[in-house]
Amino acid sequence: MQVINESSLLIDIISTYKFQKKIIGLVPTMGALHRGHLQLIEKAKLNCDIVVCSIYINPTQFNNPTDLDKYPRSMTADLALLEENGCDFAFCPTDEEMFEKGNTITIDFGNIGKVLEGHFRPGHFNGVGLIVAKFLNIIQPDIAYFGQKDLQQFAIISSLVRNLNFNTQLIRVPTVRDKNGLALSSRNVHLSEEGKQKALTLHTSLNTAKNRILKNINTKDIITEIKALYHSNDIALEYFEIVNKDTFEKIISIKSFNTIAICVAAYVEGIRLIDNILINE
Ligand code: PAJ
Repeated sequence: MQVINESSLLIDIISTYKFQKKIIGLVPTMGALHRGHLQLIEKAKLNCDIVVCSIYINPTQFNNPTDLDKYPRSMTADLALLEENGCDFAFCPTDEEMFEKGNTITIDFGNIGKVLEGHFRPGHFNGVGLIVAKFLNIIQPDIAYFGQKDLQQFAIISSLVRNLNFNTQLIRVPTVRDKNGLALSSRNVHLSEEGKQKALTLHTSLNTAKNRILKNINTKDIITEIKALYHSNDIALEYFEIVNKDTFEKIISIKSFNTIAICVAAYVEGIRLIDNILINE
């Protein structure tokens, strides 16, 4: 595996592969890699000739400076994992490399960028959109892989690709969980064993809500029940919503199970965790 820090070098290398008609796959990450990230690499290896994984903690998507400072960093271990898992190129740019000309544009994703994560993390999706657009321009991947763990992010990136005509197919990979059901996340390293136990409430509450929906219980009653559960477990819930999986608008009365996602964000031991579940998958 080759580690590359400069976009210009990566652009040159990729253009040679493009000329050879190789299929290029991209897996963008912020490092602190775990089995969830490696699942994306594995999927990319199945469909692509060349797999590029980016490791870049993008400052423009952090609305909270403490969160950026606290973000786990493990570059040496990450590179070893990528090498072991057959990644071809690790793109690890510096902040100067990515934002040397500053950052003066914003991307307005409309309503989908303003609800749930967009509401609680103002500016977050603008930052995600900017960096992903940069990677898509530099790497020009045929296919890019993202996790369902960040379902709203996937919808945002789909909108970016559609609206800006990027010639990249997007693949959404199901969330990888630990054996108890906790969604793997780089942020989990900050949780104690007790915290990890508490954090299971996210997964169990999503499953409970899904079962209630399948029994046609009305959404307002489900949300009330789930909020009480968080309250009794002493977990600070930020949101728990039943939404349309493409628009992320709240669903009040359910007409079809096919379009529904349930999304949650909560703080456990001061760590912000998110998770979601789709009703028909
Ligand atoms: P990061 O949180 O490092 O996640 C990188 C990719 O891994 C994302 O597509 C995310 O959805 C996926 N992922 C994380 N945990 C997962 C899990 N348990 N199962 C499956 N996939 C999982 O998401 C970002 O970085 C950034 O916003 C990025 C897209 C790289 C832009 O900076």
